[in-house]
Amino acid sequence: MSFEHLNIDHVSMEFPTPKGVYVALENVNLVIEKGEFVSLIGHSGCGKSTVLNVVAGLHQATKGGVVLDGKEVNEPGPDRAVVFQNHSLLPWLTSYQNVELAVKQVFGKTKNKNEMKEWIEHNLALVHMGYAMHKRPEEISGGMKQRVGIARALAMQPKVLLMDEPFGALDALTRAHMQESLMEIQAELNNTVIMITHDVDEAVLLSDRIVMMTNGPAATIGEILKVELERPRNRVELADDAKYNYYRHKVLEFLYERQHVTGEKQAVSKKEGKSSQLNVVNPRVA
Ligand SMILES: Nc1ncnc2c1ncn2[C@@H]1O[C@H](COP(=O)(O)OP(=O)(O)OP(=O)(O)O)[C@@H](O)[C@H]1O
Ligand SMILES: [Mg+2]
Repeated sequence: MSFEHLNIDHVSMEFPTPKGVYVALENVNLVIEKGEFVSLIGHSGCGKSTVLNVVAGLHQATKGGVVLDGKEVNEPGPDRAVVFQNHSLLPWLTSYQNVELAVKQVFGKTKNKNEMKEWIEHNLALVHMGYAMHKRPEEISGGMKQRVGIARALAMQPKVLLMDEPFGALDALTRAHMQESLMEIQAELNNTVIMITHDVDEAVLLSDRIVMMTNGPAATIGEILKVELERPRNRVELADDAKYNYYRHKVLEFLYERQHVTGEKQAVSKKEGKSSQLNVVNPRVA
């Protein structure tokens, strides 16, 4: 039996469309270690969310598959919690109740009422939302909603945390706070994380490896960059760090020189309301 933690094994994904079959992914291969933080980066529409959805079990790969701790992934499960770009909280429930729903699903049979309450409060406290846990989504800010979404995912104690541009909609300052919290939580809990981002600095700051995807159709992994920066990482100190800037440069070079998006493709992305622009935030400012 294999001892690999998470194996994305020769995954191809085809979608039927009115114009015929669209090959989104072709032969995506990636083995991820327990506790590893992996970022997926690539131009808009290349297939990042598709990879994440296959790992989440929301899509079934056309060819190949995903194996988590020796078991093939065929459907969504609480061992793989997803944080979507748009928080996806139920609007009629408070933050506490939103987390409670997930906790009941996972621990309904093993924890009693009091234990569940403690666990929900503990996870909301982890993301610094303890003080607002009885507010509904409409009463809290975008950053706070995103934090509740992360608390909900963490409270499921998933083996793998899947995050699709979790901080994409946040302002730079809130985003920086969320990145700090995520680094702290991950250091403490040693979760395996796959995170999609459009932000080069975010990818370098948070990741153990950055997986760079080629443009579609038939997108695949173009290059993998190992980020060997000591933890804990400090964004201000890293701004002047030669290694940090080298990694940053490598990602930018891949995206803009090797996977250049043509004018025609950019126009299509714009028409679809998507931006192929990648954020490059100065770590001093963020
Ligand atoms: N259900 C579907 N049916 C048909 N085509 C699809 C479907 N889902 C995704 N695609 C296509 O597959 C490609 C990859 O889509 P995906 O959403 O994975 O891209 P992405 O890298 O996440 O993009 P973005 O950065 O804009 O979120 C796109 O061309 C998209 O149009
Ligand atoms: Mg996407």
